Amino acid sequence: MEVVRVEGLGKTYPGGTKALEGVSFSIDRGEIFCLLGRNGAGKTTLLRILATQLKPTVGRASVLGHDVLTDPRAIRPHIAVVPQEARPQMLLSPYDHIFYMCLIRGRSRADAKERTRKVMDDLGLWEHRDKLAADLSGGLRQRLIIAMAMVADPEVLFLDEPTIGLDPLGRRSVWAMLRGLTKKGATILLTTHYLDEAEVLADHLLIVDKGRTAFLGTVDEAKGDTGVGMRVIMEPAAGNGSAAPEVLEPKSSEEILAIVERGLREKRKVTFKPASLEDAFIKIVGGSIEVENT
Ligand SMILES: Nc1ncnc2c1ncn2[C@@H]1O[C@H](COP(=O)(O)OP(=O)(O)OP(=O)(O)O)[C@@H](O)[C@H]1O
Ligand SMILES: [Mg+2]
Repeated sequence: MEVVRVEGLGKTYPGGTKALEGVSFSIDRGEIFCLLGRNGAGKTTLLRILATQLKPTVGRASVLGHDVLTDPRAIRPHIAVVPQEARPQMLLSPYDHIFYMCLIRGRSRADAKERTRKVMDDLGLWEHRDKLAADLSGGLRQRLIIAMAMVADPEVLFLDEPTIGLDPLGRRSVWAMLRGLTKKGATILLTTHYLDEAEVLADHLLIVDKGRTAFLGTVDEAKGDTGVGMRVIMEPAAGNGSAAPEVLEPKSSEEILAIVERGLREKRKVTFKPASLEDAFIKIVGGSIEVENT
């Protein structure tokens, strides 16, 4: 079942900045959909349009079958948003943030108490429940912001760079939680600059570049489409220390064999690496060297 549908979507901000142009895609129920792109590419703009916080200028978008322009009120009870660079209320405790968010989202006090405990446990926040948010580390504050979005058990979750500032274990606990949510039927759209994160999480990804679709497909397709199934680094020959290593992208076993033979012949160290999404990303958007139109 299609949960998000976007057709020919565009956004021009007052002042004339074209942040999005002709973007179309859909997201099925239970998917994690990753939105990637350089700074200023239009990710936050797209996410905010889908979260009914910002109106598109052309095209259509719907969430759970409701149009974002004509029917935003039908969408809002079913979604939650982790905005980019959100901050908690510094003079409230983490417990109060979560507990009151449960009440705001319509839970009874008894239910809210139980839900607060569960969400705080899941995100490793329980032991910090009574501190002031001001006294939490940056990563714990970010976890608190994510926890606030989790309380509603949303059908669709929009997260704008959710794991920024988290330590590696914190990031993994967020990944596990997101996967857990999709297993229960939630649908997730997230933006990230961490390509390892997108590689682990994304069922589908959209790479936007200057507001336009640069790539839409799976992680494997992103890597395959750009011909980077494997990378080979060939170090310079001894005595040629100042030369840069060669980076090769063989596309067949014959080419791999030829590289190995050349490495042996020229006595050069050869390292094989699986291509990463980062390689594909750089290929896809790396051609655009101008700084974003900010
Ligand atoms: N409120 C606004 N008014 C005018 N222009 C804006 C506004 N918000 C964003 N823009 C412009 O729209 C473009 C896209 O911005 P957006 O915030 O969507 O990018 P992003 O992909 O989220 O970038 P980042 O990775 O830095 O978060 C940029 O050129 C930005 O300057
Ligand atoms: Mg952004």
